[in-house]
Amino acid sequence: MERLFTSVIIPAAGQGRRMNASINKQYLTLSGKPILAHTLDVFERCPLINEIILVVNKEEFRICQQQVLKLYHYKKVHLVEGGDTRQESVYQGLKAVNPRADIVMTHDGARPIIQESVIIESIYETMKHQATVVGVPAKNTIKVINVDGFVEHTPDRDYLVEIQTPQTFAFKLLREAHESARKEGIEGTDDAFLVERLGHPVKIVTGHYTNIKITTPEDLIIAESIIKRFDKND
Ligand code: CTP
Ligand code: MG
Repeated sequence: MERLFTSVIIPAAGQGRRMNASINKQYLTLSGKPILAHTLDVFERCPLINEIILVVNKEEFRICQQQVLKLYHYKKVHLVEGGDTRQESVYQGLKAVNPRADIVMTHDGARPIIQESVIIESIYETMKHQATVVGVPAKNTIKVINVDGFVEHTPDRDYLVEIQTPQTFAFKLLREAHESARKEGIEGTDDAFLVERLGHPVKIVTGHYTNIKITTPEDLIIAESIIKRFDKND
């Protein structure tokens, strides 16, 4: 049997508006290096990942080259220009994936604390189920509300999962899901939603609460302290 070929698309072409920083949040320093370098390091080191499609803004190609790619010498990275939405950025990434890829995962550039074991489990589970997403059980009670701000109902927390990335799929399935959504003008907040639309089952891979997305300024403080704790355990 030929060896499995797995690509990861890393969308990093957002504006980072909620971060309120003068540069795209992915280039902010976390524990001594850019957030994006933390994310790339994990995938570069993971032996099951064959290529990394890094999606960035055209205006940020230079900063990305100089502050991340040049300094950390990634061998698997291919740079691609992003789009106006995360979905569009992932779609641009999909077009650059090696045609011989079997499995494609997407992982937010802004999630630097991803553990290799979760990547590996995602790939193994995707070989069985063709579509998986990493998530953690909801800790808070979640309520569904109406437009007037009143509670409509309270779903049973035992069946609520907060979704993270990686999200991992058979390459053909993810391509079909994105193409179909584009054709019909559907915009989703994650890739799995587009696959769910096709009626394909999506399996949950249980991840870690530490795999946070750096979104607002306090997330950087939380991420620093998680990394410090990890270092102590080494
Ligand atoms: N992303 C992207 N292209 C876009 C929008 C988002 O590649 N047009 C990426 C971001 O760079 C990020 C990931 O998708 O790594 C998750 O998005 P989010 O956390 O919302 O980042 P931003 O869109 O940059 O932040 P904000 O929504 O606060 O502006
Ligand atoms: Mg966004």
